[in-house]
Amino acid sequence: MSDNIIIEAQGLVKRYGDPSAGSGRGVEAVRGLSFAIRRGEIFGFLGPNGAGKTTTISMLSCLLEPTEGTAIVAGYDVVKAPGEVKRRIGLVPQELALYPTLSARDNLNFYGRIYGLRGRTLRRRVDEVLGMVGLAERAGSAVEDFSGGMKRRLNIAAGLLHRPEVLFLDEPTVGVDPQSRNGIFEHVERLNADGMTILYTTHYMEEAERLCHRVAIIDQGRIIALDTPRKLIADLGGGIIHLGVANGMAEGLLEQIRALPEVRAVTQFDGKVKVEATRAQEALVGLLALFNRTDTDITSLEVLEPNLETVFLQLTGKRLRD
Ligand SMILES: Nc1ncnc2c1ncn2[C@@H]1O[C@H](COP(=O)(O)OP(=O)(O)O)[C@@H](O)[C@H]1O
Ligand SMILES: [Mg+2]
Repeated sequence: MSDNIIIEAQGLVKRYGDPSAGSGRGVEAVRGLSFAIRRGEIFGFLGPNGAGKTTTISMLSCLLEPTEGTAIVAGYDVVKAPGEVKRRIGLVPQELALYPTLSARDNLNFYGRIYGLRGRTLRRRVDEVLGMVGLAERAGSAVEDFSGGMKRRLNIAAGLLHRPEVLFLDEPTVGVDPQSRNGIFEHVERLNADGMTILYTTHYMEEAERLCHRVAIIDQGRIIALDTPRKLIADLGGGIIHLGVANGMAEGLLEQIRALPEVRAVTQFDGKVKVEATRAQEALVGLLALFNRTDTDITSLEVLEPNLETVFLQLTGKRLRD
């Protein structure tokens, strides 16, 4: 493993259910993931619910053993040296794990003890992480009085107590209002600026686009694309045009659209024609000229904005969120 790589997974597979029941039984949640995350990156897992994001994070943080494959995290094998891995990572789970009747500070004291912190060191670290997530002033309040965003921030603080090299954030903005969401982004960016590597999972493409240096798009347990958001969008995000046609489009016309220089593919589905083009604006010029020439009636026309959502649509034919 090169010095620069802090997480390396090779052929990770996870099958849930009874392994002795043989193939065909159980759920194959992760189906052979390989990737490498560089030290200092904010690396995103972007995929819909059920894609296998949490299962993968659980294997990388030694909560679940891989069915197949290997993963090295911060220099140690997750199966052979889980203790070493756990010392170096912080896990902020998707489900909040906080005690509602305890204060923010006492919740953190509890987690700090789990990490083996005691006495003055524990007090100092608790104060530090409360400051890092902007909760110092509310340290003494019971968590049950906190907003969704404050609870999320406290959950993040708990994962930071032992100064991990790598932080796993599993869908940290679910159930959070837009303002707190921005607050969480800023905390993540600040932690990263101070040198922390972050693995961030989300099913919100705008979060992956805004925060992540590189993104692995995951669907049905597989990585279907991996690159910087900019590169993914440039390669795959541009140029989906939806056309409404009243009575369907004749095959001959579909063929003429396919023959346009900018067009990659054309498909017809329930009263709509989807045109995939290398560049939407150029393709549009050709399309409109063709419709004029052939006197074709179009009932609607929509050029989808190039973003990670359209990347996902191009790759899978479906939307990230239904
Ligand atoms: N403990 C479990 N037992 C059986 N199936 C599970 C379990 N946890 C998750 N799954 C299944 O594995 C797949 C991936 O789930 P998950 O990793 O939670 O996806 P994501 O975090 O991307 O939403 C889903 O089909 C889910 O239903
Ligand atoms: Mg999940």
